[in-house]
Amino acid sequence: MASVNIDAQVAAAKLEVSTEGYFPAPIKGEFYQKHLISAEQLTSLGELDELFKVAAVMEDIVKGHRRVNLLAGQTAVVNFAQPSSRTFASHVSAALNLGMKVVAMQGADAMSSFAKGEGIDDALVAFYQTTGCSVLVQRHPEDNSALIAAEAADKYYSEKLSVINGGSGKAEHPTQALLDLRTIHKFLGGQWENLQDFELTCSGDPKNSRTIKSLCSLLAMVNRSLRERGVEANIKINLVAPKETRLSSTEEGRTLIDSWKSSPDGSPNLVVNEYAEFDDDLFTQTDVLYHTRVQSEWFEDQDEFDSASSSFRLTRELMDRANALREQAGKKYIGVMHPLPRINEIERAVDGLPGSLYHNSQMPEGLYVRMALIALLRVPPGELRFWMRRMELTSPLKKLKDSLLRSAGRFL
Ligand code: CP
Repeated sequence: MASVNIDAQVAAAKLEVSTEGYFPAPIKGEFYQKHLISAEQLTSLGELDELFKVAAVMEDIVKGHRRVNLLAGQTAVVNFAQPSSRTFASHVSAALNLGMKVVAMQGADAMSSFAKGEGIDDALVAFYQTTGCSVLVQRHPEDNSALIAAEAADKYYSEKLSVINGGSGKAEHPTQALLDLRTIHKFLGGQWENLQDFELTCSGDPKNSRTIKSLCSLLAMVNRSLRERGVEANIKINLVAPKETRLSSTEEGRTLIDSWKSSPDGSPNLVVNEYAEFDDDLFTQTDVLYHTRVQSEWFEDQDEFDSASSSFRLTRELMDRANALREQAGKKYIGVMHPLPRINEIERAVDGLPGSLYHNSQMPEGLYVRMALIALLRVPPGELRFWMRRMELTSPLKKLKDSLLRSAGRFL
């Protein structure tokens, strides 16, 4: 029997789907019934304020071990064709916490219709028709995978199905960018104005990291929006990488850097510089160091990977020196972030530093922000506002905080 060439079938199926000219609707102040495919859909600080406000209520609900049924009767499909622990678990948990039914698939590249060569658009139709889902969270190795899914959802189901990009190739990871930004916002005191002179250093693998790309795109919007609010914002991005993982080593990377450096109207925006290694000046200036794994899955040449991955390791010694430099300059210790998983690029002795945010801040934020996002995408705005008010009024944590404040007031 002649063997069937699955790769050729997949290539043929891809030819039938083009995302050229398609971009999902920008949020523009209204999340309801939209998708989240790209960080570039976020257009203003007001949208982030709204998301973070809902996330604060979700945080309170999770910390208070409360049960809610805001989205009871709705279904989320979580379909991941690339490995994941955090993004997968937190989306499943977020949907369950909101009272949704969840159909979750890991290893979808090998175990689902993708393995037979089915296109992303047809798979989306299958999920809708078999589950009636209102949310599809997807991770896939193709850069335009989330665009294909969103375009198919728009075409077949209009506003009934929201697609959330859980990571598309090397291109985008917008929910990670949102949780990273809420982590940074809190670390800097919870005021946007505190990001006025914020300096972010991204190290390791800027070329292949979808999390760095989405976060920097979001920061470009934050810088622009701060200026629109009259704040003289000058956010700086430093990209520190060996030559193998420099963002500017590809045409797409250079285009992306240019898009961060200037606003759509042509005015200057973020300051972006590339470095081959860390140095004392860089540490002194860096408020948050966003370190990343050199991603073996995107390398074809083992020697190139070995060379790139051996060059960057955050050790306790290095971080102690960096924090001493910050202290001398009268600045707060460095926040250390990582989208994870880490292999050995951050020594475990760094985990206990007060600025290490990857375990105790970024990961819980992933749950709160994803709960907030799903709620904003699927609950009518008036209903969500009413529900939030009810949650705030009945919050046991808030009641405890208020009563402690009242008691403290009696002794002042
Ligand atoms: N940050 C992140 O995407 O982690 P996972 O691959 O575990 O989802």
